[in-house]
Amino acid sequence: MELCSLTGLKGRISVPGDKSISHRCIMFGSIADGTTEIRNFLQGADCLATIRCFRALGIDIEEKNSAVIVHGRGLHGLSAPNDILDVGNSGTTTRLLSGILAGQSFGSRLSGDESLNSRPMKRIIEPLTQMGAHITSIPGNGCAPLLIAPGSLRGIHYDSPVASAQVKSCLLLAGLYAEGETSVTEPSLSRNHTELMLREFGADIRTIHALDSTKATASIRPCRELYGQKITVPGDISSAAYFIAAGLIVPDSEILIENVGINPTRAGILKVCEDMGGDITLLNERTEGGEKLADILVKTSRLHGITIEGDIIPTLIDEIPVIAVMAAVAEGRTVIKDAAELKVKETDRIETVTDNLKAMGCNATPTPDGMIVNGGSLKGASIHTLLDHRIAMAFSIAALVAEGKTKILDSKCVDVSYPTFYDTFEQLL
Ligand code: S3P
Repeated sequence: MELCSLTGLKGRISVPGDKSISHRCIMFGSIADGTTEIRNFLQGADCLATIRCFRALGIDIEEKNSAVIVHGRGLHGLSAPNDILDVGNSGTTTRLLSGILAGQSFGSRLSGDESLNSRPMKRIIEPLTQMGAHITSIPGNGCAPLLIAPGSLRGIHYDSPVASAQVKSCLLLAGLYAEGETSVTEPSLSRNHTELMLREFGADIRTIHALDSTKATASIRPCRELYGQKITVPGDISSAAYFIAAGLIVPDSEILIENVGINPTRAGILKVCEDMGGDITLLNERTEGGEKLADILVKTSRLHGITIEGDIIPTLIDEIPVIAVMAAVAEGRTVIKDAAELKVKETDRIETVTDNLKAMGCNATPTPDGMIVNGGSLKGASIHTLLDHRIAMAFSIAALVAEGKTKILDSKCVDVSYPTFYDTFEQLL
């Protein structure tokens, strides 16, 4: 994909359904009784990998009148897969599905692409093993492919060293199959879609978020059954983030993004944009199925650098590539700290972001837990996405304010979370 600078992005758009929520609808619907009807499901490669895995586990999932219908077979209704489960590029599929599979009476194997098979799985292998699961890294390096043999699980309390919704959700799902209570404390609250949605499905789930600490605990007890739901997936704030950034940094722009999920555990980007001086207005705020939504109006603004650190990080972790792009054209210096988790995403995003910013002429420095970005002007470059969807989209936005042409290599990788990204973009021209 080749892009160049422009001005005046104007229009009203909507972004596809939330990736995290779309995964969970399929998973929880599969182990619920009755049907789950999902509207605005994200047809991205990651969520399609989740569908593929649950079909391989015997679940009938169909598409009817633009809805996805999951014919749940109950907590104990999955059947042994004939083959290794292909999780593609998706960390969420791998880690949440492992939690469910650990509690089954049959064995299974999971494997993904090169990026997925190099991401850390010890973070789920260790606590699942403490619960009595038989889960091993087949290559023995703590990564997938994973082998999961039948085991009987007991509830544990797990103090997670990382604020990770994938780890938390994996253990809560295993907890549905364990004897007694399973609880997870994380250093600060990560996205809480599992807690909100499992409760809607009828699970016995509790959450405690102490006022005097950033720590958050979620606990679950096994229940007899979950109940199929009707769910409309909110627009994905992680996808909206690219157009929020474009609206702020491209001169003479005004963009309205409709029906975006603004769950506070995901909405850190909004606070960061405001702190940087961005003109953002939330309209039509409402709550549906436990999730908050709004329409977001963005207008071109003069941005300035800030420091981003602490417990806001988990609420914007996937948006850091595009935040770094905004920082690269803001006035002054932006410092991002406490974000070492960036190293274990689809690529090492501390490296991929700073390398590509440098290629565009930006003074950016990687640090062990984040980066320092000095604002200035950008010039066109060839962007090495390393097949990371968020790098492709973030640097497509950078291209709009860079002098000369920018080439996004392997831009097709946007399919992972936002197959229609470039189509939405055209609506604003
Ligand atoms: C996700 C959790 C986050 C996020 C990922 C989706 C989820 O990962 O980066 O894109 O749906 O639970 P971690 O839990 O590893 O932080």
